Amino acid sequence: MSNEVIKLIQSHRSIRAFTDQEIREEQITDIVEAGRRAPTSHNVQAYSIVVIQDPKKKDELARLSGNQSYISKCPVFFVLIADFYRLKKASEIHEQPFEVGEVEQLLVGSVDCALVAENMLVASRSLGLGGVMIGGIRNNPEEVAKLLNLPEYTFPIMGLCIGYPDQNPDQKPRLPKGAIVFNENYDTDQVEAGLKEYDAVTEEYYRQRTNGLKTDSWSKQMATFSSNPKRSHVGDYVKGQGFLTAYHKKNS
Ligand SMILES: Cc1cc2nc3c(=O)[nH]c(=O)nc-3n(C[C@H](O)[C@H](O)[C@H](O)COP(=O)(O)O)c2cc1C
Repeated sequence: MSNEVIKLIQSHRSIRAFTDQEIREEQITDIVEAGRRAPTSHNVQAYSIVVIQDPKKKDELARLSGNQSYISKCPVFFVLIADFYRLKKASEIHEQPFEVGEVEQLLVGSVDCALVAENMLVASRSLGLGGVMIGGIRNNPEEVAKLLNLPEYTFPIMGLCIGYPDQNPDQKPRLPKGAIVFNENYDTDQVEAGLKEYDAVTEEYYRQRTNGLKTDSWSKQMATFSSNPKRSHVGDYVKGQGFLTAYHKKNS
């Protein structure tokens, strides 16, 4: 069984090259409204969306995200911010204590942002647009916050480049279903079998795409990826923004 929505979702590919064609304001409104309808934990709506079209600001964000040039090139770049600033205001209005010191709030804000971003990407694709999410926005969170004037109790989670596609990449093979989907119980044997199968698929995928220059299997790539800490500055940054205080107290 299939339909247009399922076909659209299942044909996902990240797009990193864009034509010069502008996006209309109504399209941006539709994309943002699709994001705003995402489900949200406890209705806290712990996210904000910053819409960036200013070329200078996009250039700066491209640089801060690890020189990802497609951020400059896309006509609109969205930054998804985990945001408890409004909850702080609500607590002040009602003179209640304000508690966002647990890891839980980081999860709530991050999940909210991810759901909003995916809704926005799917909505964009339904309009004939394409895009890619940008975790590189967390490379320099302090400078991003300064550039976007972010208040306390916020932190940038991801960016989203959107524009008219100027490339038609193959779909990236995913892990086999057996390594990811389990009936009733997790099964580590399935994982092992799935990894072997996926390594063979990914070696061939990269061999073909790079004329044999890159042949690393997925497990090899992930082993390298996991061999050192990632963005260890992010913990200090979110603490500085008012989060993780309970965790910090417990461990100090
Ligand atoms: C939260 C998140 C952050 C990402 N960050 C980046 C990024 O900074 N730069 C980039 O080129 N791609 C980024 N991606 C895209 C992934 O690399 C891509 O989704 C993955 O390789 C699978 O490829 P596909 O989306 O074409 O299927 C990100 C994706 C997600 C979900």
